[in-house]
Amino acid sequence: MITPLRLCLVFLVSSLSVWADTAISSLLSRPTTSLDGLWSIVVDPYDNGFYNYRYTPFDATGKLTGGYGQDLPHDNKSGLIEYNFDTAPKIQVPGDWNSQDEKLYLYEGSVWYRRTFDAPAVADGERVFLHFGAANYRADVYLNGAKLGMHIGGFTPFDFEVTGKLQPTGNSLVVRVNNNRHLEAVPTVNTDWWNYGGITRSVQLVTVPAVFVRDYALALARGEGDVLRMAVDVEAPEGGAALPETVTVAIPELGVRENLTVDADGHAKGEVTLRRLVRWTPEIPRLYEVRIEAGDDVVTERMGFRTIETAGTDILLNGESVFFRGICMHEENPFRGGRAWSEDDARLMLGWAKELGCNFVRLAHYPHNVNMARIADEMGLMLWEEIPVYWTIQWENPDTLANARAQLADLIVRDRNRASVMVWSVANETPLSEPRMQFLGTLVKDARALDPTRLVSAAMEVHRDPEHPEMRIVNDPFGELTDLVSFNQYVGWYDGLPENCDRVKWRVDYQKPVFISEWGGGAKAGYHADALTRWSEEFQADIYRRGIPMLESIPQLRGMSPWILVDFRSPRRPLADIQDGWNRKGLISDRGERKQAFAILQAYYQRKAQAEIDAQAGSGVKAPATATTPQK
Ligand code: GCU
Repeated sequence: MITPLRLCLVFLVSSLSVWADTAISSLLSRPTTSLDGLWSIVVDPYDNGFYNYRYTPFDATGKLTGGYGQDLPHDNKSGLIEYNFDTAPKIQVPGDWNSQDEKLYLYEGSVWYRRTFDAPAVADGERVFLHFGAANYRADVYLNGAKLGMHIGGFTPFDFEVTGKLQPTGNSLVVRVNNNRHLEAVPTVNTDWWNYGGITRSVQLVTVPAVFVRDYALALARGEGDVLRMAVDVEAPEGGAALPETVTVAIPELGVRENLTVDADGHAKGEVTLRRLVRWTPEIPRLYEVRIEAGDDVVTERMGFRTIETAGTDILLNGESVFFRGICMHEENPFRGGRAWSEDDARLMLGWAKELGCNFVRLAHYPHNVNMARIADEMGLMLWEEIPVYWTIQWENPDTLANARAQLADLIVRDRNRASVMVWSVANETPLSEPRMQFLGTLVKDARALDPTRLVSAAMEVHRDPEHPEMRIVNDPFGELTDLVSFNQYVGWYDGLPENCDRVKWRVDYQKPVFISEWGGGAKAGYHADALTRWSEEFQADIYRRGIPMLESIPQLRGMSPWILVDFRSPRRPLADIQDGWNRKGLISDRGERKQAFAILQAYYQRKAQAEIDAQAGSGVKAPATATTPQK
């Protein structure tokens, strides 16, 4: 759990070199020992493995006095141990439990996971970390019968140092994962997505030298020239080997090899002008091998370099105006009906976005797994990444704020070296209030402190003027703090019928780029009727036909991400024979069927892309505004 002190210390340092006391991002770029595979599980709806019969936690005194975390051996025929991981059923890690066992489909509570493993070879002075990609929602972790710690937050990485705590063979790793929802949590109890529980992302052991690169951030400075700003954070053991005097950042393909001086805190900063740089763009997603060397430690990864900023109502990618041709997606492989987590899952979903003609994806409503941004870097898709400050969060609860800040810091530190990430989003559809403004204002400050090189936004809500029923107004005060004015709107679905799109007029009270972070409607794939029959593909298609020209009437419009690429599971969607527990606003069904609306949006994005090519080709004749006359 992030304690406020731990977190507030993090933000005392200014500019790019702000180091969040978060999961160690450099662990992701190293050789690791995977602990993925089949783990034993004990389902524990009464948390019998965590509390004694007086409902006191077994770890209340700091020493574990009982419970399943001890993983006691059954080596005494008279012994009384009422759990046994050796004979327990097993499920796959990574993976949610809901989609792996019918009995756990709706389960919310605690599941105890256990696997054993042999220690990796560790040279003298080397350090070993146990790294989790994520576990939803709370994880209590035990190693060889002793508690390592716990983490709260269902979508961000965390790690524990296990140096000196491993035995050569047969180490017992036990994890209690609890996915109960709580009013004070982030997200709170009410969401429109499935509350998948479990160790939903990979688990690894990572060995690093005594002195190692803990984190780093490399980014092009905005403005003239290809000036690369570098910040590297080096760690040395207390009372052990000394920090190196310098660290080296090398980009061999660009002839870069920079030595940066390391200060007493292990921080090194510098900048270098890159010659011959091919900047990253969706069309040419050029990546370079980057090597960071500190003492015996070498970290390598592939990175792209570009700038993103706004000017007036324009979004500028590498100084050129860009339109975000986006789509939203949840982190769910529809064919498995469960949490997505793998590279293959990322390629499937992002491949569909490419097929749709997108250059942008809004990863709703929480940090997706680490593969998404890495694959988006390769495929040339720009990303909006978000923390689940969703709907009715407890704005005045300090623990809720500390939780949200920690999740945002963990996300930014994990992904701020990914060229594809363009927007940090700190919320979604949050009702207006002063406490909400304070809460979100803190998150915006954190985002800018941790990463001043990207855009900050959040999906705001639309308001009306009773005097002018056809008007839809965007004047959320939060828009003062963000780079993009983003909002969700459902004219034609929640707000009248599709023909309402022809009547509605928009007023956006900001001269900033406008991004429609959600819009659309539902349809059951294969259900055909006239365009006034709700849930038919024709009804959904009519929303898209009429919605596009309505949105194009907003002069500040610079992008959109319709809701949503694929149907997704939600407990809020029980309508039998139509929803059956799925939100049907996907352009693709949970069986991969393209609905009629898919082709309508695809055609629009093709026209937008062609118009950009014509404009960039300097044809002299500015491409006609994309005529989006609805094909009746
Ligand atoms: C909201 C919300 C989504 C939700 C969608 C819907 O805008 O942001 O999370 O799924 O509407 O109602 O389908």
